[in-house]
Amino acid sequence: MKKIIFTIMALLVVTMSQANDLPVYLDDTKPLEQRVEDALQRMTLDEKIAIIHAQSKFSSPGVKRLGIPDLWTDDGPHGVRPDVLWDEWEQAGQTNDSCVAFPALTCLAATWNPEMARIYGENLGEEALYRGKNVILGPGVNIYRTPLGGRNFEYMGEDPWLASRIVVPYVQGLQSKGVAACIKHYALNNDEEYRHQVNVIVSDRALQEIYLPAFKAAVREGGAWAIMGAYNLYKDQHNCHNQYLLNRILKQDWQFDGVVISDWGGAHDTEQAVKYGLDLEFGTWTDGLAFGTSNAYDNYYMAQPYKQLIQEGKMTTQELDEKVRRVLRLHFRTTMNRNRPHGFLCSESHYAAALKIAQEGIVLLKNDAPKGAQPVLPLDANKKQRILVVGENAIKMMTVGGGSSSLKVQKEILPLDGIKARFANAEVDYARGYVGDTVQSYNGVTVGRSLYEMRSKDELISEAVEKAKTADVVIVVGGLNKSDYQDAEGHDRKSYDLPYAQNELVEALVAVNPRLVFVSISGTGSVLPWINKVPAVVQGWFVGSESGEAIANVLAGDVNPSGKLPFTWYADLNQCGAHAMNAYPGVWREGQQIIDEEYKEGVYVGYRWVDKQKAKPLFPFGYGLSYTTFSLGKATADKKQITANDQISFTVSVTNTGNRAGAETVQLYVSDKKASVDRPMKELKAFQKVYLQPGESRDVTLTIGRDALSFFDEATGQWKAEPGTFEALIGTSSQNLPTKCSFELK
Ligand code: BGC
Repeated sequence: MKKIIFTIMALLVVTMSQANDLPVYLDDTKPLEQRVEDALQRMTLDEKIAIIHAQSKFSSPGVKRLGIPDLWTDDGPHGVRPDVLWDEWEQAGQTNDSCVAFPALTCLAATWNPEMARIYGENLGEEALYRGKNVILGPGVNIYRTPLGGRNFEYMGEDPWLASRIVVPYVQGLQSKGVAACIKHYALNNDEEYRHQVNVIVSDRALQEIYLPAFKAAVREGGAWAIMGAYNLYKDQHNCHNQYLLNRILKQDWQFDGVVISDWGGAHDTEQAVKYGLDLEFGTWTDGLAFGTSNAYDNYYMAQPYKQLIQEGKMTTQELDEKVRRVLRLHFRTTMNRNRPHGFLCSESHYAAALKIAQEGIVLLKNDAPKGAQPVLPLDANKKQRILVVGENAIKMMTVGGGSSSLKVQKEILPLDGIKARFANAEVDYARGYVGDTVQSYNGVTVGRSLYEMRSKDELISEAVEKAKTADVVIVVGGLNKSDYQDAEGHDRKSYDLPYAQNELVEALVAVNPRLVFVSISGTGSVLPWINKVPAVVQGWFVGSESGEAIANVLAGDVNPSGKLPFTWYADLNQCGAHAMNAYPGVWREGQQIIDEEYKEGVYVGYRWVDKQKAKPLFPFGYGLSYTTFSLGKATADKKQITANDQISFTVSVTNTGNRAGAETVQLYVSDKKASVDRPMKELKAFQKVYLQPGESRDVTLTIGRDALSFFDEATGQWKAEPGTFEALIGTSSQNLPTKCSFELK
């Protein structure tokens, strides 16, 4: 009966629209859902099956007969990946697919500035439009659970609130251009090693409080049009077809109306894919290496095998129609959106955005004065001096490598070149210092100068030491790189130490020249055993096309650093909950290809664990210095008591007490003084970055509501704020919170 009514209604829709000439689905003055239903009922079974799986490495078909074009996806998330061939991973060899590389998402998170995320999304969206991409595979918001995680650099740090505030404007900025964000990797893909086999075991509280909030924010507040299922498993189901994560939480609880896209090769079974929430299948059988046939798209789990089950009456078309609706919605939002601008590639404005974000994200970690002189940084660019730059990362392109986020850039300014250009009055010399990975190509994109080097480690160190003896300042540009087992997809780091004998190099250099600056190029922390001897350390991230310029501008003080760490920089691995609890990388199940990884540290991730252990990390979450100084006044609250539906605001004055303009980020952490469950000592719930001239003061007001006081109650499956006393701890890093206010929740 329902079916008959529906068919009559659909026929009516068509007839009515024919009266206006334009079919409803093509009429963008009509409500989206009406257009979706209209298109859906015009489609044949074959057309429906076709649009829910890929037709090439990165595209899925539209409906030609109805004028709905193909859907093109592309990585993501730091720039638009170069085109590969239709059914191969090889480069298509286009001459117009070079892009601007924006800073890696860790750097974006380190800006602590949602406005930077909006600019990021908008600029990337324009590049995607020009390149004809409808979906950008990103951003990634998996939580930084261990510093060994291979893809930490592609994510937004350890804290769910910070990641949420950054992901929302990124998504909105991107989608304002008519390009869909595809939030990844949903969910619990917090490390890379054995990512296809890991079955995560995690408490509901940790899932809801730590691992899901950024995804939820991207969906509920950002309005993301697509999300990518992760490779790993949860509750013994693959996350690309997972009843609990996809059907229950994402689609039911969060009311997600967009498309669940599989990670490439993340679907494993037709029935499960159909039932457990997958909408659009990509990458199956296409690795082209160990398995797979050419152009095997018909063999996809949601292709012929699915059609057959329907034809044999083993499945109805109910789930199919639901998937098709979602995919159609995505088309109307992107490929069929007539108001999309055209976009442009490699424009000056995109480079300017990349530079601005990079400069706001770079973190000054240490800046002491050797032997009581001035702090080493900033370096005076007008001075005639001898600068020695050391290290492979000064001459290595970092936009190439690391996995699917690898790019083909039109330009990447290397640190050495940036420093030479900015310090034109100085004599800038270079020594290699160490050899890391000399490969300068990835997936067929070869770039940069040759990194060929035959000298031994000792020869390289002694050359650098000799040159350092007569230099006024030594800048070591080191850290990690995008090679396997470093900051790269597919594996995790094997150790938390700096690779390639860099520690030996730094120790030798600082012994002959105490004016040493270490610039770390990486997406995560490392042990820095020489930290007490080296006066200046800068976290330079992977900042994309404008790397060299951004780094040089910070070193020269043209830019006053204002980035803050989006993760805890542990002194050693034991300060990290996952490692201290021996809860990484998990335990193989006997006789099975599954590794159970139990997140035994629960909600105690990052600073939450450090607080609990009263540990002293090398650099705490939220920490970063400036070339000026700031002072905070005493915070005041606008209320002493609140009820569950109230908001409460805290105001604190911030003064720039130094003699340079700069920015400080005021951070508010909530502490629940007494709770029925074990809660972290404090949790970040609000922050704001303020820009101040020397001597200028400004009041910063931070407002929170009931959400900020709640924990996830496992017994009821609800968020709960318990009456009682709370404290708002306010300051400039998770370990510098000089002013606080108490208040009561009634
Ligand atoms: C990665 C995704 C990526 C996809 C397409 C997968 O291996 O995990 O992040 O978007 O490939 O390149």
